[in-house]
Amino acid sequence: MNSSELMRIAQAMVAKGKGILAADESTGTIGKRFSAIKVESTEENRRAYRDLLFTAAPATQAISGVILYDETIRQSTQDGTPFPRYLAQNGMIPGIKVDEGAKPMAGCPGETITEGLDGLRERLVAYHALGARFAKWRAVIDIAEGIPSWSAVHANAQGLARYAALCQENGIVPIVEPEVLMDGGHSIERCEEVTSLVLQTVFGELFAARVLLEGMVLKPNMVISGKKAANRAVPQAVAEATLRVLKRHVPPAVPGIAFLSGGQSSPEATLHLALMNQMGPLPWTLTFSYGRALQDNALKTWGGAPGNLAAAQKEFAKRAKLNGLAAIGGYAADMETQAA
Ligand code: 13P
Repeated sequence: MNSSELMRIAQAMVAKGKGILAADESTGTIGKRFSAIKVESTEENRRAYRDLLFTAAPATQAISGVILYDETIRQSTQDGTPFPRYLAQNGMIPGIKVDEGAKPMAGCPGETITEGLDGLRERLVAYHALGARFAKWRAVIDIAEGIPSWSAVHANAQGLARYAALCQENGIVPIVEPEVLMDGGHSIERCEEVTSLVLQTVFGELFAARVLLEGMVLKPNMVISGKKAANRAVPQAVAEATLRVLKRHVPPAVPGIAFLSGGQSSPEATLHLALMNQMGPLPWTLTFSYGRALQDNALKTWGGAPGNLAAAQKEFAKRAKLNGLAAIGGYAADMETQAA
């Protein structure tokens, strides 16, 4: 394991004023996003859409790295440059989703375990050769009556730690993503309780697996009310609760925390990040690794029509810029109506 190289990559992923674009939707997930805008999910449409995002010139100033899916890492820009090479040439580190999805967990009704450890070492070697320098593995913890169970939290944490150790062995920085879902009607207090348990368990397992904390990036959920909660906590409360939990459970050796958006609206995700960065100084860099909160507006504007490409790129550039500002605390909600 080359520790200094892992540390260098991890730091570059969370460089000041930059964050990560999650464009690693599986074929099933991108199919759902496309069907919402009535676009057929063909391989060429998926390529064209990713091309649009990656080549949106000003946007890339706020993007340190891009998480790709297995199909995407093998695709190319319109002019034939492989995506990983194009990204690297334009200052964005190519990354790859390596988990094989959250599957129903035996013995734990209503809960999932993320699969993908079998053969992972060999796949990491292949992805490294294709240009990937970081990876992502997402564990999913749902909140409902009687769940999560300790069994599911522990097994998912162990999976994340096994994955992270394998990544580092192969010169790839692991993004460790334990996502506590915001589906459902739970309170922010319940989210805080579960997120605490999950993060504490994950860092215990990372320690047991001998993962180099300086050579990883954490991708957590924010501590937030469930989407269907009657009284949703205000942005200031989300920022305070999230920081409280992170300070309790994330060692300062971790260089950066890059949040998922998890179903928050685009402005909401940006505002929460900005508020937290305004409450510094903090022991780690706090930035974004958003999928939907970066892409939603661009996807709708594009609608599958080549003629909308420039307008869609502008929408993506706007969200990237605003989130880049939020990552240094320099965003205010009134910028939503000004930014180009
Ligand atoms: P969202 O920001 O849309 O939650 O996606 C981030 C991600 O990579 C989820 O695994």
